Amino acid sequence: MGAAAELRKISRYGVIGQPVAHSLSPRIHALFAKAFGIDLSYEAIEIAPADLAARLQQLHADGYSGINVTLPHKAVVAALCEGVSERAQIAGAVNCLKRTDSGWIGDNTDGEGLVRDLARLGIAVAGQRVLLLGAGGAARGAIDPLLALHPKELVVSSRNPWKPEALAEQFKGRGPLRPCTHLALKGDHYDLIINATSAGHAGGMPRLPGPLLVEGGSCYDLSYGKAHAPFAAWAQQQSAAKTDDGLGMLVEQAAVSFEIWLGKSPDVEAVLAALRTR
Ligand SMILES: NC(=O)c1ccc[n+]([C@@H]2O[C@H](COP(=O)([O-])OP(=O)(O)OC[C@H]3O[C@@H](n4cnc5c(N)ncnc54)[C@H](OP(=O)(O)O)[C@@H]3O)[C@@H](O)[C@H]2O)c1
Repeated sequence: MGAAAELRKISRYGVIGQPVAHSLSPRIHALFAKAFGIDLSYEAIEIAPADLAARLQQLHADGYSGINVTLPHKAVVAALCEGVSERAQIAGAVNCLKRTDSGWIGDNTDGEGLVRDLARLGIAVAGQRVLLLGAGGAARGAIDPLLALHPKELVVSSRNPWKPEALAEQFKGRGPLRPCTHLALKGDHYDLIINATSAGHAGGMPRLPGPLLVEGGSCYDLSYGKAHAPFAAWAQQQSAAKTDDGLGMLVEQAAVSFEIWLGKSPDVEAVLAALRTR
């Protein structure tokens, strides 16, 4: 039997995006599968926005069982699904597709990945004053899962005043959410500061006023690798008792996808340790 025919016999998964070659998802899912002795393939598949609808149909015809979705497709892919979970609708983004006989069901595992990682790291949210920096797709997906943990207050802050206002309107009645601009944070103090901006990818940090962290407070960054360095340096200036990057969230959100597809819960710590020793 040829390699292609052999491949058709095993379950096929992948991550779609543009660019996508840098994605750690193939490695993470290969480690999950190996730990369970499951034979599957998981590929990084580059797709341009204009080709998304046709390529998604082709992936279904080719027999793929599940697909992760990364930038720039997270917001638009929902319209190509035959159903979308409530949490993906609330987040306005889909990052996980599960195959049905006739198409794809969209879900969002990022918010669950974040709160699982905070729990894994022993970072409390209940009763705490939490600042969420950024008002893009990742911040929107994090708001409902964070509010479900009952913070004393969740402040969402951005350079652009209208984005946090729109989020506060969307999540009205779901918990103590307050919109803010970075400048208006002056004089505030938070127990936990979560960076959900993409500023680190350009080597920067949002411009923030004065000290914002209480003594003994924690900082958490959704970014990891080189993009985490500017926020890590800022957290050190704030004398953070604890600062973590988003690699754990990446593995946790992948674990939620794996559970959706295969009904098995991977050992996140083991995979995270393997990634950190690369
Ligand atoms: N660890 C994980 O599993 C995981 C999962 C998802 C996302 N992420 C990371 O989370 C970050 C945000 O992703 P996203 O999808 O939300 O991106 P996005 O939708 O493009 O939003 C980016 C946000 O960053 C802000 N921003 C960008 N450059 C800035 C700068 N120089 N100064 C201040 N603010 C700046 C934007 O501010 P304005 O609103 O003011 O324009 C916006 O609020 C990225 O670094 C991404 O890699 C990590």
